[in-house]
Amino acid sequence: MPTTDFTDAPTFSRPIWAEVDLAALRSNFETLAALGPGNMLAVVKANAYGHGAAASARALMEGPVRPAMLAVASVDEGLQLRDAGVTAPILLLSAILPAEARDAVRAGLTPTVFTAEVAAALDAAGRAEGRVAEAHFKIDTGMARLGAPTEEAAGLWKSFRAFPNLRIGGVYTHFACADEEDDPMSVGQVSAFREFLDECGIRSGEVLVHAANSAAQLRYPEARFAPARCGISLYGALPSAFSNPFGVALRPVMSLRARVTHVRTVRAGTSISYGATWRAARDSRIATVPAGYADGYPRSLSNRGQVLVRGQRCPVVGRVTMDITLVDITELGAGVGLGEAVTLFGSGLLAEEVAAWAGTIPYEIFTGVAARVPRVYSRG
Ligand SMILES: Cc1ncc(COP(=O)(O)O)c(C=O)c1O
Repeated sequence: MPTTDFTDAPTFSRPIWAEVDLAALRSNFETLAALGPGNMLAVVKANAYGHGAAASARALMEGPVRPAMLAVASVDEGLQLRDAGVTAPILLLSAILPAEARDAVRAGLTPTVFTAEVAAALDAAGRAEGRVAEAHFKIDTGMARLGAPTEEAAGLWKSFRAFPNLRIGGVYTHFACADEEDDPMSVGQVSAFREFLDECGIRSGEVLVHAANSAAQLRYPEARFAPARCGISLYGALPSAFSNPFGVALRPVMSLRARVTHVRTVRAGTSISYGATWRAARDSRIATVPAGYADGYPRSLSNRGQVLVRGQRCPVVGRVTMDITLVDITELGAGVGLGEAVTLFGSGLLAEEVAAWAGTIPYEIFTGVAARVPRVYSRG
């Protein structure tokens, strides 16, 4: 097991861990940035999609090509990166409350702004801190979640630019359907965004103009403003099966792994785990794997998932429990025993496939990996 950097990992308490390959992260970053047209804004929110925000941010910022900015969701995520010594500019993608403006400005974070209340609070915080508050302006072109409505956006943008202690260094929007097979939204969203930029005379270069998430960056060259704002693809997974028509090659970054802690032979007819939902059709060898839904291994994989043992796929049998999953290793013969390594997802068994079995998306698989699972960092 690669163990080059344990600084962000809690101590081992159970034989389960998440291997995070920082070389793969850097390689994905460089691949996505090379699609252009400008540099990338690296999304490391939600603990870098479960991969460890501080270690991921440091790895991204230390290469020859660096992200233009990092992006997290909230003030507290930004503060955690600052506490970890990350000095890069950090965009806050979610809305902040006016009461959070002072903390954000003091830490040199860049909130998203699209209401007069937050703009005024940032300006006041800038004055109080004796510095100019940084922010990016967001326009809602169709997601209807955050951002100024298109009909109000130009007026708000102009009024925010008049605040003496507030600098709007970027403007952006977010796609609602770029990963959908029949995408009804993105073309209209790009034109609405361009109309706004033209109306306000905003030129890329003067401020950062960004829109493309992973799906748009991989799929729509016409939506590639500078910089792109990628998350899931940095971590080597695709947003959906439709989002990579040009076959951009990405490498999985995280592998969730565990060691077999018990093997038992059960007679044909024996039922397994809570609810007795699986019954052995033949005499079977069943491995106990110390990974359960409290580790982020979804319960919906009960009787549906597969894991990799010695490179071979073995079925999850019976219900996934809080701390333990049972796997049928009969096909592997008698050689598999205590301590054998099992891959729950990652290299050789993509998170996208596991997510599909679980009826979810790789975003949820990655971010669901629990805090009690130590992250173990390697560089390839
Ligand atoms: C505003 C915003 N931009 C960019 C991203 C990154 O999206 P993806 O992980 O699909 O690249 C997200 C993710 O949720 C987001 O909320």
